[in-house]
Amino acid sequence: MASKISFFSWLFLLCLCLISAMLIHKSYIVYMGDRPKGEFSISSLHLSMLQKVIGSKFSPESLLHSFRRSFNGFVVNLTEDEAQIIARMANVVSVFPNEKKTLHTTRSWDFMGFSKQVRRTTLESDIIIGVLDTGIWPESESFNDEGFGPPPSKWKGSCQASSNFSCNNKIIGAKYYRSNGKFGSTDIQSPRDSEGHGTHTASTAAGGLVGMASLHGLGVGTARGGVPSARIAVYKICWSDGCSDADILAAFDDAIADGVDIISLSVGGKIANDYFNDSIAIGTFHAMKNGILTSTSAGNEGPLPASIKNFSPWSLSVAASTIDRKFETKVQLGNKKIYEGVSINTFDLKNAMYPLIYGGDAPNITGNFTGSQSRFCSINSLDANLVKGKIVLCDLSTGEGPLLAGAIGTVMQGQGPRDRAFSFPLPTAFLGPDEGADILSFINSTSNATAIIRKSNVVNNSLAPFVPSFSSRGPNPITPDILKPDIAAPGVDIIAAWSLASSVTGLQGDNRFVPYNIISGTSMACPHATGAAAYVKSHHPKWSPSAIKSALMTTASPMSSATNPEAEFAYGVGHINPAKAINPGLIYDAEPLDYVKFLCGQGYDSILLKLVTGDKSTCSKAINATVWDLNYPSFALSATRLEFVKQVFNRIVTNVGSPTSKYKATVTAPPGLKIQVKPSILSFTSLGEKKAFALTVEGRASRSMVSASLVWDDGKCQVRSPVVMHFIP
Ligand SMILES: *[C@@H]1O[C@H](CO)[C@@H](O)[C@H](O)[C@H]1NC(C)=O
Ligand SMILES: *[C@@H]1O[C@H](CO)[C@@H](O)[C@H](O)[C@H]1NC(C)=O
Ligand SMILES: *[C@@H]1O[C@H](CO)[C@@H](O)[C@H](O)[C@H]1NC(C)=O
Ligand SMILES: *[C@@H]1O[C@H](CO)[C@@H](O)[C@H](O)[C@H]1NC(C)=O
Ligand SMILES: *[C@@H]1O[C@H](CO)[C@@H](O)[C@H](O)[C@H]1NC(C)=O
Ligand SMILES: *[C@@H]1O[C@H](CO)[C@@H](O)[C@H](O)[C@H]1NC(C)=O
Ligand SMILES: *[C@@H]1O[C@H](CO)[C@@H](O)[C@H](O)[C@H]1NC(C)=O
Ligand SMILES: *[C@@H]1O[C@H](CO)[C@@H](O)[C@H](O)[C@H]1NC(C)=O
Ligand SMILES: *[C@@H]1O[C@H](CO)[C@@H](O)[C@H](O)[C@H]1NC(C)=O
Repeated sequence: MASKISFFSWLFLLCLCLISAMLIHKSYIVYMGDRPKGEFSISSLHLSMLQKVIGSKFSPESLLHSFRRSFNGFVVNLTEDEAQIIARMANVVSVFPNEKKTLHTTRSWDFMGFSKQVRRTTLESDIIIGVLDTGIWPESESFNDEGFGPPPSKWKGSCQASSNFSCNNKIIGAKYYRSNGKFGSTDIQSPRDSEGHGTHTASTAAGGLVGMASLHGLGVGTARGGVPSARIAVYKICWSDGCSDADILAAFDDAIADGVDIISLSVGGKIANDYFNDSIAIGTFHAMKNGILTSTSAGNEGPLPASIKNFSPWSLSVAASTIDRKFETKVQLGNKKIYEGVSINTFDLKNAMYPLIYGGDAPNITGNFTGSQSRFCSINSLDANLVKGKIVLCDLSTGEGPLLAGAIGTVMQGQGPRDRAFSFPLPTAFLGPDEGADILSFINSTSNATAIIRKSNVVNNSLAPFVPSFSSRGPNPITPDILKPDIAAPGVDIIAAWSLASSVTGLQGDNRFVPYNIISGTSMACPHATGAAAYVKSHHPKWSPSAIKSALMTTASPMSSATNPEAEFAYGVGHINPAKAINPGLIYDAEPLDYVKFLCGQGYDSILLKLVTGDKSTCSKAINATVWDLNYPSFALSATRLEFVKQVFNRIVTNVGSPTSKYKATVTAPPGLKIQVKPSILSFTSLGEKKAFALTVEGRASRSMVSASLVWDDGKCQVRSPVVMHFIP
């Protein structure tokens, strides 16, 4: 009887749910497409629109922000019902909840064959890179403006200066965005970076040359960005609790109007949203429409298939790859055995040997912890009296627990991936489970177990470059016939500038505040591609975002599926090669209208697209384009398993190499896949000349993916595009 819910209580609950669904206000983004032409107050337009729909119940304070400089829309607190009414209005493209996105947490340029001596243009100092991130540490040596002239005249942005924050001729603009007006205890209410991430990404893209940069002597070298003379415009959108869609869009609205040349965004959402329901896809679309390429991070949710987070065809999606060095940390036991762990250990222990104890043997009994809990060494779980002054063997944890309990170091053991190194707040080496079991039996075998953890060594990683497990993989979750990610760039153990308000790990008890830090993520890969894109732009200032992207993609160095079985779904076209990208020979260009044609072909509502583009083009037979005809620098074809498919891809290449040149097509394809290119020779007689060709793919996807490639070669330039056929399970 007791478990039975009476009809009336059920009805009561139902009503309660309905009432609360009606009354709970949530913050929404209302996206209305392109900026309307003409001079009038857009926010009063938004207010009167809301008043009309919602009526007297509407309070003006719930309109949190109006986008008005580069596109049209606003952020507003609404009930679900109100949101639905607004979504049905004729002048609204989409309405979606304002949610939080997360950060996708230097020898790297040399590793890309991009030396300090590469040919640079004087135009580089006119390039402005917009960095949407956690802000910046303006006093960092990487942002020293010595020798810089005033900002380029096209710059229309501003600096939110205060007694504690100022810009200079390197950081020419800085603003912070916080539409909900709430700040956490570690947040600094200025464009100043309290996290480190934004300082790291900005200096990777455009930091100046700083000699002898290192993390406590590790990774010593010259820290530098891809374009050391370029300017930086900072848009702080990420705070201690994440990066909200409202703030991301507000920053795009400004950055586009401020006159930045390239945008860098190392942030992504939790799920794959439809293009018009995603703040980053919308922001990057308007950036592209205004001639600005956005470089985005693929995400850190790999190696799951389709885990890529930023995949719109009008932006660059960057996967992470390793560079040719790795951090190794040795552990020596009292029995003289030596293990090679992975970690970034800056600490130099003084004594010869320290007592070694297993975390599982040192539970904090007064805190009611058992050995099966304390082996994870979480905060409070260890008995401080037993671990003080010792090295503790732990099952993988952050190291905060042992540090706070007074341990001198930790040996972490576990299954975790070992293709990048982490920092811990105390001397730490990370070993695999077999080595961990070995050490545990050593501890068990003696009453006097001792060990020492050495400072890390930097060793050659001869397998590099490969894509580490964390980097998000394709295929593209929304448009499987556009290959994503686009390209790979260094994102593992990258040294770059850091915020002095954040320690090396950001963990409790870590007192190492450093000007340069070593971290990993597609967040670190993205600004490498941003710097490379800016470098191409400094040589070809008139090139469109798609042309720059094509140049970077077709000149990339092929990577090997031997180390990455997911092949192009891990690394896209391959490893970025900025020095080569300024001379691609041919480019696959696309203008804003081409992306509109693509969206028409994808079945997007033609009336909404008209709002998005702000012009008269509506979808029709004449402009509808299939996904295969978008002039993309790579080729992807999805099918069901073992289905026989034959598909034609139409492409147009533009000659940007030698005025007179003859390119020959070379195709490499695995057995079972037939690829034809017509014509197979393209002859050019002038620069800027365009030639069309058709590539036909015929076959069956017998494996989950098969890779092939097309190379146009004139003897000087090899214009390479991967061709991928895959089946959707
Ligand atoms: C808007 O809604 C959010 C919850 O999504 C709430 O925290 C905030 O206080 C609301 N703001 C206003 C001005 O009503
Ligand atoms: C966009 O988001 C809204 C609100 O969550 C949802 O109702 C709508 O179906 C979404 N549209 C698409 C195309 O995913
Ligand atoms: C200036 O910023 C630093 C770094 O965050 C902080 O420690 C200091 O308290 C700030 N000073 C003022 C006056 O806000
Ligand atoms: C314990 O081992 C260390 C070296 O591993 C040695 O120096 C020390 O004398 C030993 N202590 C005891 C009590 O056996
Ligand atoms: C054990 O845990 C309790 C509560 O969790 C904590 O207050 C105490 O400091 C811990 N004791 C030791 C010896 O670490
Ligand atoms: C530990 O458990 C005992 C018995 O259940 C309880 O009385 C005591 O409060 C617990 N101590 C802590 C620190 O949780
Ligand atoms: C070591 O001893 C622990 C008990 O302290 C036991 O659970 C474990 O199985 C032993 N491990 C090895 C490898 O001998
Ligand atoms: C690392 O090893 C590879 C292959 O063995 C070699 O080509 C490369 O030059 C080495 N790099 C360094 C920095 O020694
Ligand atoms: C454009 O293509 C879409 C998707 O294939 C289709 O739904 C729509 O009817 C087409 N429009 C025209 C005018 O052909």
